[in-house]
Amino acid sequence: MSKITVIDHPLVKHKLTHLRDKTTEHFVFRKIVNELSYLMVYEATRGLKTRSVEVETPLEKTNSDVLDDDVVIVPILRAGLGMLEGCQSMIPNARVGFVGIYRNEETLEPVEYYLKIPNVENAKLLLVDPMLATGGSLSATVTRLKGLGARHINIICILASPEGIRKVEGEHPDVDIFCACIDDGLDRNGYILPGIGDCGDRIFGTL
Ligand code: PRP
Ligand code: URA
Repeated sequence: MSKITVIDHPLVKHKLTHLRDKTTEHFVFRKIVNELSYLMVYEATRGLKTRSVEVETPLEKTNSDVLDDDVVIVPILRAGLGMLEGCQSMIPNARVGFVGIYRNEETLEPVEYYLKIPNVENAKLLLVDPMLATGGSLSATVTRLKGLGARHINIICILASPEGIRKVEGEHPDVDIFCACIDDGLDRNGYILPGIGDCGDRIFGTL
């Protein structure tokens, strides 16, 4: 089964509270999403492989580790874009692919409108989207990425609902999920409760 990791850290909790606050302005909201991404990618990359290389310090030669995995970061447009810079800053040599998906407001089914993915066959993928609500968007994206040959996928989301986790886990038990909090559930419009509202709109100031 999927491993679900709730990143239980005071800084993560503090920043999430500011995201929940409806009075947080969009430029502050966007900055906090970015800061949370730094903290979350740290945990979500704990399993990456390293290899030893020789380096010469100012004092002597020694062996020290460097990353040995080919990492591809895939943000789901739009809201996932808010998490890209934080992830990319921590792994500057990661390649980046993009998936554009929105939820149909009536059916809540995911609709794909853009796909630009590099070769992912031997890569470790970090699939980023702040919201795992019904799970439709993330699960459909995982299916798409697997169809392109992806074998190792970790999801980083800020909020997850129990329903969304069940869907992704049911359809993709090999995919691990890292989140800042598992909220109570969904309202009848598919919004996470208590949640942070419409994350894309709050990041880009389009409410
Ligand atoms: C949001 C969010 C996820 C999706 C989650 O995107 O960023 O992609 O909803 O919902 P789900 O788990 O029920 O599929 P949205 O559809 O609002 O598109 P946007 O980011 O372009 O605003
Ligand atoms: N998408 C969001 O942006 N927020 C939710 O609560 C659910 C889906």
